[in-house]
Amino acid sequence: LIQPVVLSGGSGTRLWPLSREKYPKQLLPLIGDDSLLQATVRRVEGLAGVSVAAPMVVSNEEYRFVIAEQLRLMGKPGTIVLEPVGRNTAPALTLAALAARRDGADPVLLVMPADHVIVDVAAFQTVVVQGAKLAEAGAVVTFGITPDTPETGYGYIQSGAAFEGGAHRIARFVEKPDRATAQGYLDAGGYAWNSGLFMLKASVWLAAIAACRADILSACEAAFAKGSADGEFLRVDKAGFTACPSDSIDYAVMERLAAGGREDLPAGVVLPLSAGWSDVGAWDALWQVLPKDESGNVQQGDVLLHDSKNTLALSEGRLIACVGVENLIVVETADAVLVANKDKTQDVKKIVDALKREG
Ligand code: GDD
Ligand code: MG
Repeated sequence: LIQPVVLSGGSGTRLWPLSREKYPKQLLPLIGDDSLLQATVRRVEGLAGVSVAAPMVVSNEEYRFVIAEQLRLMGKPGTIVLEPVGRNTAPALTLAALAARRDGADPVLLVMPADHVIVDVAAFQTVVVQGAKLAEAGAVVTFGITPDTPETGYGYIQSGAAFEGGAHRIARFVEKPDRATAQGYLDAGGYAWNSGLFMLKASVWLAAIAACRADILSACEAAFAKGSADGEFLRVDKAGFTACPSDSIDYAVMERLAAGGREDLPAGVVLPLSAGWSDVGAWDALWQVLPKDESGNVQQGDVLLHDSKNTLALSEGRLIACVGVENLIVVETADAVLVANKDKTQDVKKIVDALKREG
């Protein structure tokens, strides 16, 4: 049995002005009619030969109604684990594992960020079925993406010795290296980006977090034990969870798994994933994955482009007209308009930071 676990915590500030604190990017229909969260849930429909449990979403309390409604609309009601505060992905996954184990079951968790795009769902599903076998046997399975730029926002996985089932041992896992280090990995070869997807049994995660960060496990256990179920929502104790240290799956566990030499940790393996994966973190990534016209433009809503190329223009209401522009991002919403150089879209976050400072 595979238990999909969708992590839906981030607010996606680099996709401002569409993505807002009140309505983060994973809940928006950025591509097609589904929100990224709905597309994530739909991606595991019809896995060959494997049964898939109703989805579990781990999210901040604030988004509970939107998430419940989106799951209901697609006919996939599930469990929604509510965090009173964000403590990053290691505590979020620990809560999911505790929730999955609450009736004694020990499913394979398929951990999926809510804010990714995967174009080739069939290829994704083939790899997930392979991953399920490895995870069932006790491994921590990661999915590696062939890197083409020295991105500093990703984890890097160095492939080691061949493992069973088409996988390799993780020789090294380095979360968010600096640019020079990342470039070194690209030059050396044998490294993949960590996709942020993981497969492992609930009990395997709980043992790994116990070995690496017992403080996180005990805080989550305490918060979970004092929590309550309310229909589809699972609440955890606010004071208890607020006291939990904040850390990511990658720093808390993955880097240590790969260091080797620790008998108390499960095997970490990597499967190659070639399925049009994209972490749509910023506008340039969204331009990459959306369908383009022959000049490389992405147009949504009321848009008129003349003599323009490689531009993304997205209007929620008013007409956007561009003449003779190149490599631009133009996003129109009711209360804000963004015009950005497509090579600088990481810096949209700086606008959001400035707006926050102004209050
Ligand atoms: N429920 C919950 N609670 N979800 C969270 C929280 C939290 O406190 N914090 C983050 N998330 C969700 C995000 O919404 C996202 O879907 C996923 O967990 C990953 O978190 P990010 O904050 O986006 O991580 P990242 O992009 O910096 O790095 C991770 O993903 C990369 C690939 O996109 C790492 O796993 C990297 O190694 C990886 O390369
Ligand atoms: Mg991310």
